[in-house]
Amino acid sequence: MEKGEIEDIIIKNAYIIDPSQGIDEIGDIFIRNGKINKIKLFNKNKEPLILHNAKIIDASGLYLFPGLVDMHVHLREPGYEYKETIKSGTKAAVKGGVTSICCMPNTKPVNDNKTVTQFIIQKAKAEGVCPVFPIGAVTKGQKGEELSEMGIMYEAGCIAFSDDGHPIMNALLMRRALEYSKTFDVPIISHPEDLNLSASGVVNEGEISIKLGLRGIPKESEIIMIKRDIELASLTGGKLHIAHVSTEGGVKAIKEAKKAGINITAETCPHYFTLTEKAVEGYNTNAKVNPPLRTEKDLQAIKEGLEDGTIDVIASDHAPHHKDEKLCEFERAASGISGIETLFLLSLQLYHEKLLSLSELIKKLTINPSSILKLNKGTLKPGSDADLILVDINEECTIDTTTFISKGKNSPFDGWKVRGKIIETFVSGKPLKEKVI
Ligand code: DOR
Repeated sequence: MEKGEIEDIIIKNAYIIDPSQGIDEIGDIFIRNGKINKIKLFNKNKEPLILHNAKIIDASGLYLFPGLVDMHVHLREPGYEYKETIKSGTKAAVKGGVTSICCMPNTKPVNDNKTVTQFIIQKAKAEGVCPVFPIGAVTKGQKGEELSEMGIMYEAGCIAFSDDGHPIMNALLMRRALEYSKTFDVPIISHPEDLNLSASGVVNEGEISIKLGLRGIPKESEIIMIKRDIELASLTGGKLHIAHVSTEGGVKAIKEAKKAGINITAETCPHYFTLTEKAVEGYNTNAKVNPPLRTEKDLQAIKEGLEDGTIDVIASDHAPHHKDEKLCEFERAASGISGIETLFLLSLQLYHEKLLSLSELIKKLTINPSSILKLNKGTLKPGSDADLILVDINEECTIDTTTFISKGKNSPFDGWKVRGKIIETFVSGKPLKEKVI
């Protein structure tokens, strides 16, 4: 083998699931030059792949999935490197089975121009361990006043636009953004929150906000904005993606919009189907997140939305913060959960609970986000990058934030017992877990 060449690999006897090709059976995968070269399925052709000089990995008893595509990540670089860098965030991703990251624009400076977009792409190529796809800001400085140069940023490599964390309160601007982005067929990702209604609240409005004496955010803050954006998507025909759905009313509105043929997709995050507002009791700042954790009824509705296909994607909304930003009074604490290392493990519990089949689950973590963003990822089709994970779906493990690679240890899941373990993550044919841990 020449220096710098990637070695040929055969992964044998894995249970392969690739929803992009309808594969759900045992087989062998041949990787050459960092790409998927061939898949041999035992049911179709019992002869195994034999290739000389290839490294053989026996994956008997393990599952093999496409690497995950996480379409909602905060990498913090440039500007907030003390919370996370592109290097630490991509390493944490690979540990969690994520092989493609889409990063939100709320950096400093904001990713609202091609210089920042190019910086992120170049830095990720130089220091990252998996590909990073930037999401550009819809408005300059995420201020909600003036559209950014979306066309130029699209040319520079942005794959979607969002003012995430800073909802676009001006409906005319949102309309223009949906119209403008149609030109390049990329989605506008809406962080659905009516800021006037949420009125600087810090937890869900209800029993817990009263009990703890904290300002509440009513669920209507999310539902009203989802409904407004659905109307604007209907008016413009633009491509709308709803981020981090947390409410029963939100799921219902999206379900109806889909039925009506609106160009809409939606995502939720593991904390909205595993935790309720009760997690903030004791003023637990690690459970402070925006949108806030809701009620049991909302949690069940999110699960139903995942089951019936209303919710297309599970993303982490990885939001790492420094410990001092969480070790303070609840009202002052930063919002967000460091979630990229627990995205897969928590999602896998939906399979163990029998809510989703493995194929349905993997679809929401791979080909669905990839198709929404037209990334050419999240698939094992021959010719595609050999980004994949090997998983023992039954081995029990305990989530331990002290072992997080992310700089952000802010997770309410510390100590949780889950079933499943990522054994190896390959990015472009290279096994990386050992390298990152
Ligand atoms: O909790 C959150 N944290 N929600 C957001 O929308 C932004 C994120 C962050 O950037 O920390």
